[in-house]
Amino acid sequence: FAVFCHICSGDNYILDDTIGLGRAFDGIGGLSGGGATSRLLVNYDEPYRSQILDYLFKPNFGASLQILKVEIGGDAQSTDGTEPSHMHYENDENYFRGYEWWLMGEAKRRNPNITLIGLPWAFPGWVGHGENWPFHFPDITVSYVVSWIIGAKQYHELDIDYVGIWNERSFDSKYIKLLRYTLDKSGLERVRIIASDNLWEPITSFVLLDQELQEAVDVLGAHYPGTTILPEVLKTGKTLWSSEDYSTFNNDVGGGCWARIINQNYVNGSMTATIAWNLVSSYYQELPFGRDGLMTAQEPWSGNYVVESPIWITAHTTQFTQPGWRYLQTVGHLNHGGSYVALTDQKGNLTVVIETMSHDHSVCIRPPLLPYNVTFQRATFSLKGSFVSVELQVWNSKLDFKTKKPVFFQKQNPIKVSNGSFTLDLNVDEVYTVTTVTTGQKGSYPEPPPSAPFPKAYKDDFNVRKCSVFSEAPNFADQTGVFEYFMNLTDPGPHVYTLQQVVTQRPVTWVADADQTISIIGDYNWQDVNVSCDVYMENEKGGGVFVAARVDKGGGSVRSTKGIFFWIFADGTYKVTSDLSGESILAEGLSPTRAHIWYTLSLSVKGNYASGELNGHALWTNVVVLKPKNGWAGIGTSAFELAQFDNFSVHP
Ligand code: GAL
Ligand code: CA
Repeated sequence: FAVFCHICSGDNYILDDTIGLGRAFDGIGGLSGGGATSRLLVNYDEPYRSQILDYLFKPNFGASLQILKVEIGGDAQSTDGTEPSHMHYENDENYFRGYEWWLMGEAKRRNPNITLIGLPWAFPGWVGHGENWPFHFPDITVSYVVSWIIGAKQYHELDIDYVGIWNERSFDSKYIKLLRYTLDKSGLERVRIIASDNLWEPITSFVLLDQELQEAVDVLGAHYPGTTILPEVLKTGKTLWSSEDYSTFNNDVGGGCWARIINQNYVNGSMTATIAWNLVSSYYQELPFGRDGLMTAQEPWSGNYVVESPIWITAHTTQFTQPGWRYLQTVGHLNHGGSYVALTDQKGNLTVVIETMSHDHSVCIRPPLLPYNVTFQRATFSLKGSFVSVELQVWNSKLDFKTKKPVFFQKQNPIKVSNGSFTLDLNVDEVYTVTTVTTGQKGSYPEPPPSAPFPKAYKDDFNVRKCSVFSEAPNFADQTGVFEYFMNLTDPGPHVYTLQQVVTQRPVTWVADADQTISIIGDYNWQDVNVSCDVYMENEKGGGVFVAARVDKGGGSVRSTKGIFFWIFADGTYKVTSDLSGESILAEGLSPTRAHIWYTLSLSVKGNYASGELNGHALWTNVVVLKPKNGWAGIGTSAFELAQFDNFSVHP
């Protein structure tokens, strides 16, 4: 009878601002980078590229994101590839590399109020002075990071709002204080510091024990907090953020994860911002964490993209709030599972977001989620204090795992508030937004072109002027090293415009980059292909370059990449190996190769056999290749060294 009674009478929740307000809301965001997660986005043709950006950033359209966090490229592998640094070398500065500048510009153009954050995963080798550690010379690292912030303003009119320390790695108090000092001295008092983009500890204890550090740090940012904090975190009095979260496959369970943590990061953990890794899945899906983005745009060659459930889950909060709104103190759990938050602009507007995600339909990648129950419930919300609305807008999403006919961000008939309250029948796996805000919109574009595999015949002569918006050639996804357009005006022959590998020193890494450099391209399912490329070694001593097929790996495990690698070296030898590390040798011999001469390398793989040509002549034939059976094509170098590539082609 007791259970039945809940259903007929319902549960009552009070929304009241007379008892004081909760914390200030800072926004919901997406993270581009950490790493190379937007790599393929830039190569989309219009109008698709703009459509994707609209779904992400345009206010009152889709996710309408309030925060964009980007990686400060460090020339090193940071999950799905490397992102180029603005300072490859100590005396080098260039604020037009990669795509994060462009992305921040596109986000700002759509939403001038969007909050911008930069965070390094890795650093160029010179920053560490030869050591795999960025804090031995804090003045160097600080000036490197502050240069990035100044460059953003100087070259792109972008005001960076927050900067972090070192993603999910150690922090150093001295470094953080020097960063604060240098920002202030550089007229960047407005730039605030997040620390430490890892766990709540040890940063919390350090902040509690060190007054100067406490003053330098503005926000405590934790990753994948599982919606909770530690008790001592509150003692810091700091703003608390889930500064990286989500990273869950973007099907409807991913949407459920996102709905649950957006609400409960505040309800359970007082966190006032949640940032999704990643913003948009724009990297080859077989790289690590495929499709762990708010939406999917991983096929620039077809134009296909998918607006996934997390986009609409985000809209439930972002379209009806602004950073600076305040949470009410009356937020919490629902009696039969799920949660509700309420926010106000303190000018009479009220937004209530309710989620009833069940355990199995809202599991995130990490941390583990303890069991709990959610059942149907009737909930009555009583409006107290300054909320006297007569009519409230209602938006609903329903993750329907039974009929597989989910509903996303659907506008329902407005609710009439009677006797100061409204009642909702809440089913399991639903999100409701109930709000005074009337500007919500479910944006849409015509269906994009259908999904299609990477074209089987593909070529690139890299004949793009340096003033092209992007520094990298379409579809190449660097996994160690950085491959950039290069212009060689003194070249007497056909190689004025080429692609150059530019990282000449092992970076301060975030994961274990390979000792070789490699950029991959194409279709992971490719088996029999011919990969051909003009190559040019610039390193006389020990230089080497390769073309590869059936490349089976990238990301953090790039060191153990297998495939079929055809190398030539400046010492007059060649080699065929089944691994990137060059240890598993299938064939080797002499070749008339040396530095500063262009050669054409051609690798053909068919079934269990491979053969290689140098300048159109067979150099080795019928080498048996058993594993791997399929993979991307690739190019690269045998060490961190300069080398050029031109006229790349793949054909069946
Ligand atoms: C995080 C990291 C991201 C990405 C993600 C994958 O810990 O910061 O760069 O690797 O994990 O889940
Ligand atoms: Ca060329």
